[in-house]
Amino acid sequence: MVTNESSTFDIGDETVHRLGYGAMRITGENIIGRPDDEDEARQVLRRAVDIGVDFVDTADSYGPGVSERLIRESGITEDALVATKAGLLRNSDGDWLRHGDPDYVRNQALVSRDRLGVDSIDLLQYHAPDEDVPYEDTITAFAELKDEGIVDNVGVSNVDVDHLETARDHVDVVTVQNQYNVGNREHEDVLQACEEYGIGFMPYFPVGAGDLGSVGNALDDAAAAHDATRYQIALAWLLAHSDVTLPIPGTSSIDHLEENVAASGIELTDDEYARLTDH
Ligand SMILES: NC(=O)c1ccc[n+]([C@@H]2O[C@H](COP(=O)([O-])OP(=O)(O)OC[C@H]3O[C@@H](n4cnc5c(N)ncnc54)[C@H](OP(=O)(O)O)[C@@H]3O)[C@@H](O)[C@H]2O)c1
Repeated sequence: MVTNESSTFDIGDETVHRLGYGAMRITGENIIGRPDDEDEARQVLRRAVDIGVDFVDTADSYGPGVSERLIRESGITEDALVATKAGLLRNSDGDWLRHGDPDYVRNQALVSRDRLGVDSIDLLQYHAPDEDVPYEDTITAFAELKDEGIVDNVGVSNVDVDHLETARDHVDVVTVQNQYNVGNREHEDVLQACEEYGIGFMPYFPVGAGDLGSVGNALDDAAAAHDATRYQIALAWLLAHSDVTLPIPGTSSIDHLEENVAASGIELTDDEYARLTDH
């Protein structure tokens, strides 16, 4: 049976396996509304926990609300640390609008806590900086939510190093979530800051949202050598690249979920790692 062999990382008082699961893909098309088969979505979530995933990422804006509801209905909130997010809202076109108003964030945190059916949110992340609201004002709302026990831990997302430093001035930041994968390392400086501070770095689009085309032969060669897929090699590279990476591959499929978790058992050779890193 596939099992999560990734090493562990401490998030606040909790210890989780570094390879997690991203629950954005269990909603309807364009991350709006319900999936075609809600029971299948709940099965993916339960299967994740059954094979050793104990760290699940979601957001109030996934659905909106659908991903968080399915997480509660699947009964996994006792078995996994659930990281959700606030600060983006969806309009009628499905656009993602940044909304960092402190009262809105507080409101959404209370909604998420209720929808997830938990006493306190394990980890609440500020989804993306809103240029119309000073970053420190929104982060202060997150700090207050933590002080009041509504959330246990605070994280940030879609940030540069300056945002991270500002956030750290106001609250203990335990995770950063930025776009990052073997083919897109724009946020290497943010990852390095996370390493320096011992903060978890959650690379989103860890398998390039299904497209790792730019990486080329290094992926194909390593995949052939390990009898693995390109996606698995991309995940193995993320786990090998830093001790603080917490990849959260997203999928609506049990087969892909098992394939992704099995990547935790792949050990790249030094040569494979170097070729992937330098591609
Ligand atoms: N903070 C942010 O702004 C932000 C933005 C985007 C995402 N996220 C988070 O990051 C998580 C991961 O991002 P993501 O889901 O967009 O991207 P991803 O994990 O890189 O890729 C997911 C896509 O790849 C496919 N896929 C996954 N595993 C596969 C496999 N083994 N073989 C073939 N195809 C595979 C999935 O399709 P199938 O469903 O068919 O498997 C899905 O379309 C999300 O779930 C979400 O929690 C955060």
